[in-house]
Amino acid sequence: MKLRRWIATGAVAMATLATLNIAPATAGRPYDPSNQSLRNLAMRHGLHVGTAVDLAALNDTTDPRYREIAGSEFSSVTAENAMKWESLEPTRGTYNWGPADELMAFARQHHQRVRGHVLVWHNQLPAWLTSGVADGSISTTELRQILRDHITAVVTRYKGKIWQWDVVNEAVSDPWDTPSTLHYKGFWAEHLGPGYIADAFRWARAADPKALLFYNDYNIEAFGSGNPADDKTQFVYEMARELRAKGVPIDGIGSQGHLGTQYGNFNTFQVSAALKKFAGLGLATAFTEVDVRSQLTEAVQAGDSAEINPRLQASAANFSVLMRACLSSPHCLSFTLWGFDDKHSWVPGWFDDPPEGLATVYDENYQPKLAYHELKADLIYSGPPFVLPRVPHHPRR
Ligand code: G3I
Repeated sequence: MKLRRWIATGAVAMATLATLNIAPATAGRPYDPSNQSLRNLAMRHGLHVGTAVDLAALNDTTDPRYREIAGSEFSSVTAENAMKWESLEPTRGTYNWGPADELMAFARQHHQRVRGHVLVWHNQLPAWLTSGVADGSISTTELRQILRDHITAVVTRYKGKIWQWDVVNEAVSDPWDTPSTLHYKGFWAEHLGPGYIADAFRWARAADPKALLFYNDYNIEAFGSGNPADDKTQFVYEMARELRAKGVPIDGIGSQGHLGTQYGNFNTFQVSAALKKFAGLGLATAFTEVDVRSQLTEAVQAGDSAEINPRLQASAANFSVLMRACLSSPHCLSFTLWGFDDKHSWVPGWFDDPPEGLATVYDENYQPKLAYHELKADLIYSGPPFVLPRVPHHPRR
């Protein structure tokens, strides 16, 4: 090899390592990207890889591995439950900031960004609120003021420290609801009407002008018929377009990404197309709660590898579809797992008929599964011209 070419090749290799944000290999050991953490590998793309964090698990001193992995593999964290209304304000007027503050401190210590989850949702509301509305002791006017106060208090508490807030979560019905025509559903729409959505974004922006404000939902990974009466992605797209047209300060769409191997799911191009369409509205996107569950037949529970292996493979393929789609859009800013290990996943506690599980990228003993390795491979073996660094987004006024 000619000297000049040799020097040029070396320079390209060093530049690649520099952009990987990776220390050179230790003496005598060749550099192996598969040994790098997800967070390091994602940094080359300017992508943040995150996880939902269970505060009880994080504080469990008998199980230190949870804390180690949460701190080392991820560059972003989300409170799985600790920032929900019932956790923050179990008694009216008395806030319990402790667990949420702990997560903020953990994130700071590990140089992680935080996705705030969640300001307005119909689930996990405190009993004083739902029963007060039910028995008429909280009027509609007062309810609106309570919501405003809650958003203001929580966003102000963490002002300047939250990267992305899930401002409104799961406001839209599903085709299996009644009526089946998609509509705004749940506690807030029933009591305040859909106008609460625009209000919530405005109140959040007023409390923290620097946080990116997201609408977050499931089953919006790809477009369907294009008819908002039965295509939830289209419904959310039109909602976002209308909010933007009215000058409501929405910055992004969070696609949760709760998938199951028993479903058909989507291919990478369909998911990529959806992200690009949302980006066309000037919005950032993010995968916010990714997991891919499987049905646990008796054979699976008995350890039959002929039944387990296809599930692990299908799960890995689905994680990979979402990751590659995210990589394909420079406006897809983060990829968050809804928990990283099967021991702490919400899935087995939620789906019991038939039982489901195997939804995360580490097994119950913190052994990385095929999905973990394939996510890494997606991050390693992708780049220009079709995968470009993320475009930073700034809050809209
Ligand atoms: O805190 C109580 C505890 O005191 C009690 O002993 C225990 C007994 O069941 O329950 C505990 O509360 C549970 C809570 O998680 C904290 O572990 C609730 O029962 C349980 O319902 C709750 O589940 C959470 C679920 O949201 C509630 O809707 C899951 O952990 C959480 O992963 C899940 O997350 C949601 C996202 O926020 C929004 N998108 C869907 C996603 C999955 O459902």
